[in-house]
Amino acid sequence: MIKRFVFGKPFDTEAIINKPKQEEGNIPYFEKNGNTFSYEMDDKDIVWGLGENVRGMNKRGHKYTSWCSDEFEHSEEKQSLYGAHNFFIIDGKTKLGGFVDCPGRVDFDIGDTEYSKLYITIENSGFEIYLLEGSSVISIVKEFRQLIGTSYIPPKWAFGIGQSRWGYGSEEDLLKVQEGYRKNNLPVDMIYLDIDYMDNFKDFTVDSNKYRDFKATISKLKEDKIRVIPIIDAGVKVEDGYSVYDEGIKNGFFCKDKEGKEFIVGVWPGKSVLPDFLNKAAARWFGDKYKVLTDMGIEGFWNDMNEPALFYSEKNKQEVFEHLAEYKDTNVGLYANFAMKDAVNLMANNLKDYKSFYHETDKGKICHADVHNLYGYKMTKSASDSLERILGKEKYLLFSRASYIGMHRSSGIWMGDNKSWWSHILLNLKMLPSLNMCGFIYTGADLGGFGSDTTEDLLLRWYALGIFLPLFRNHSCLGSREQEPYQFKAVDKFRGLLNLRYRLLPYLYETFIDSVKNNEMYGSPLGFVWTDDEDAKRCEDQLLIGDSIMIAPVYEQNATGRHVYLPEEMKLIRFKGSEIIEEGIMEAGHNYIHCNLDEICIFLRKNKKLPLAKEAASIEDLDWKDLTYIEY
Ligand code: GLC
Repeated sequence: MIKRFVFGKPFDTEAIINKPKQEEGNIPYFEKNGNTFSYEMDDKDIVWGLGENVRGMNKRGHKYTSWCSDEFEHSEEKQSLYGAHNFFIIDGKTKLGGFVDCPGRVDFDIGDTEYSKLYITIENSGFEIYLLEGSSVISIVKEFRQLIGTSYIPPKWAFGIGQSRWGYGSEEDLLKVQEGYRKNNLPVDMIYLDIDYMDNFKDFTVDSNKYRDFKATISKLKEDKIRVIPIIDAGVKVEDGYSVYDEGIKNGFFCKDKEGKEFIVGVWPGKSVLPDFLNKAAARWFGDKYKVLTDMGIEGFWNDMNEPALFYSEKNKQEVFEHLAEYKDTNVGLYANFAMKDAVNLMANNLKDYKSFYHETDKGKICHADVHNLYGYKMTKSASDSLERILGKEKYLLFSRASYIGMHRSSGIWMGDNKSWWSHILLNLKMLPSLNMCGFIYTGADLGGFGSDTTEDLLLRWYALGIFLPLFRNHSCLGSREQEPYQFKAVDKFRGLLNLRYRLLPYLYETFIDSVKNNEMYGSPLGFVWTDDEDAKRCEDQLLIGDSIMIAPVYEQNATGRHVYLPEEMKLIRFKGSEIIEEGIMEAGHNYIHCNLDEICIFLRKNKKLPLAKEAASIEDLDWKDLTYIEY
């Protein structure tokens, strides 16, 4: 049962596709106080959801802010990452789903201020709240997913192995990665290009000093069944003579300040302007630009910095420098020292800036802060609409960093700039079900960690989770340790795990399609299935993938195994690389499982079977029909 409550005059986010009729009267379950809604939680209530975020699957005990943020440190005290996913389910005696459909800032205080209270505070005056009642968490998820429409499906090759790094600067670099994989007999389907391929970080350009013949390189790699996936950034370089800038200026397609002048910000190219993706004509125009690259043979993209991330705005940069000048000849003590540092640090992604520019929408001029959480969504929708026109439905790969519910129909997302920290394996595992609840099924993390230096053991353990995620990509930051699997001595171990990914793909792909078509979870918390089992409900480091297998990756350094909870009897299948070395029935209950760095333990449920394909060097070589089955 879904109930829709409307407050004020909301901006239509297009998150919901079939809106039920509006309810009259007061909102039930919650006490309303201005724009704050409070709910009394029972001691044992669990709160699932909120999509991409830090902390647990159970969100209780922290504050979260729905505000798409360029956040490069995913630590526990943070409250927002790149996505704004305002869907949650309270799971206790009462089972209740809630979705706050509002493109501005929304705060969730889930038992942080008071352990028994859930507070939701909405900044905009116009918004909608959907309440979903159901007999189980799963049935509420399904109801919600029906409401928001079918999730994005990429082409099959997008389930292969992807290799990325900020710093693959040239054609030579690209071919070196191909060689690294092929020489070492490692399967691969995609190599990603970060901002380095562009001419001075200008979208839809290729640096001709680095690529003699980009199109020829793309086609050469395609002959080897490798797709090249370039990045596109939200900010457009301010440069007379650069056609994207010139056309956008001529047509008034960039966001403007109060006075009606283009709002100048700083991003990778320095001075940049922001395409107004909430203006339909501007969005269509920007989307059409992807053709520059599809004409060169490109079939997939990743959209970045679209929260939008701002290093500074021209206005606030001036103010900061004037402010800093004041300290030049003064005695800088404790408070002045803090103030000086803050002035510089708060220059990026500053709220004052987000309040200083405007969009031209169908509903007239709107301040960016009121619709902030739609920016990445609308950028990515402009791309997917265009790619669908150019390449066709399900024929392109697309994922974005920023997102809002609704964007899940157009593309996937990746989990952003994680770090080579052991705790981030677990963080990424926990994010998967929260994202699936919100419709984001095609997703994955930067395997090995984006920031800081990885190690061989960390990468192996991360792969042990990664091989089960729909999006498999090893990505790292400029300046960090190179982390392609062939950089390590244990290349044989990596080969085994990568081969296993392809062997598992018939199961993983079918699970993916099933979760999209039938609004199922791809990765579920155990508590969604064993609803009366307290230990299962509190288990935050294992996942069901589809309805047949459970995974329990090791996420602690130097551990030779881990605790695994089995809510029911299951069959342990132990792989060493891609080969099975052990099968055995395990009793329900708490167990300790040993698992070496080159091993994967999968737990198969009763009356289920796991199909396994033969190894393949790429998706195109995979035989989806020649399968063996492990049964229980
Ligand atoms: C952002 C992205 C990251 C990318 C970098 C350079 O930090 O999140 O993936 O490598 O920008 O483009």
